[in-house]
Amino acid sequence: NKPTLDQCYNLLDFEAVAKRVMKKTAWAYYSSGADDEITLRDNHSAFHRIWFRPKVLVDVEKIDMSTTMLGTKTSIPFYVTATALGKLGHPEGEVVLTKGAAKHNIIQMIPTLASCSFDEICDAKSEHQIQWLQLYVNKNREITRKIVCHAENRGCKALFITVDAPQLGRREKDMRSKFEDNGSSVQNNNGDSMDRSQGAARAISSFIDPSLSWKDIPWFKSITKMKIVLKGVQRVEDVIKACEAGVDGVVLSNHGGRQLDTAPSGIEILAATMPILRERGLENKIEIFIDGGIRRASDIVKALCLGAKGVGIGRPFLYAMSAYGLPGVDRAMQLLKDEMEMNMRLIGAPTIADLEENMVDTRAVALH
Ligand code: FNR
Repeated sequence: NKPTLDQCYNLLDFEAVAKRVMKKTAWAYYSSGADDEITLRDNHSAFHRIWFRPKVLVDVEKIDMSTTMLGTKTSIPFYVTATALGKLGHPEGEVVLTKGAAKHNIIQMIPTLASCSFDEICDAKSEHQIQWLQLYVNKNREITRKIVCHAENRGCKALFITVDAPQLGRREKDMRSKFEDNGSSVQNNNGDSMDRSQGAARAISSFIDPSLSWKDIPWFKSITKMKIVLKGVQRVEDVIKACEAGVDGVVLSNHGGRQLDTAPSGIEILAATMPILRERGLENKIEIFIDGGIRRASDIVKALCLGAKGVGIGRPFLYAMSAYGLPGVDRAMQLLKDEMEMNMRLIGAPTIADLEENMVDTRAVALH
């Protein structure tokens, strides 16, 4: 007696259904966080420490939640972030997310470690749909160069280099469930044999280059015209370095709590970062995104009030896809849009530009 789709009223409902219906190994891979999962839990609860300061008597008859991210227009300021191994949750894998995102005019970030091939995910997109590439940098830079150039040729608009995973974190739930193949394949473009005794995550990540450093950034700029964003920045000093390195954006993120446990949440790093960027006149030099724990449109609104250009959402769409396929992804996106419209109306912000820092109270935020 699985609940029907119209009995799912918010993103957390999809998670509850997914937990019941997914294969144990798949659930373990998607839901796990690193070590004691303190960061994983705090990613969501950090939003509860921020309170709204709504404006009243603003004309909110019409709400426009469209915006731009990295120079392209989008219907709402969130994107589907990169999550590996889509076929663990659904036989068609990542293309299900592509189709859902197309319907709602939402940007999709394609993971290096997708279950579908990169070309399958590109081929599934609609005519004007925007896709970005998430990149794990290979020890063999020629392989990386080929992946990047191919993505650019296929029309990807931005390159998100993951910088928080020189080694994959220990996700013990995943390790315990001992990754079994489940018939899904991983296109990681490396011929290394996989040690599956360590769980799915570690099995697929052995090619990632732990020597990647700031010195490599100019090389990326030399091989592509795509916008370059560093995904997984966790302190303001590194945001400033990213500005100096001339990249176009950063994602303040702890990889969904899957890497360094007790790393702070993206929303709290954002609250601590923006005042310093403003002080230095850097706030318009770079686009700031966050991800991790975003489950409600109110979370998105808080991030935008604090200065984020947009936010990434990972697990909720995986859960919606695993539980209900494309109709699930479609409904999850629509629920967020409906919530967003209501939240903007109730806070007194008819457009994204009207979301201001003084509409949130961050005094209970842990990081300062
Ligand atoms: C991820 N994430 C991720 N990030 C990345 O850069 N490359 C990857 O291959 C993956 N794979 C991946 C798989 C799964 C199952 C999850 C849950 C996450 C991290 C992801 O992009 C993002 O940072 C978090 O998922 C955001 O947190 P929420 O929305 O899942 O809470």
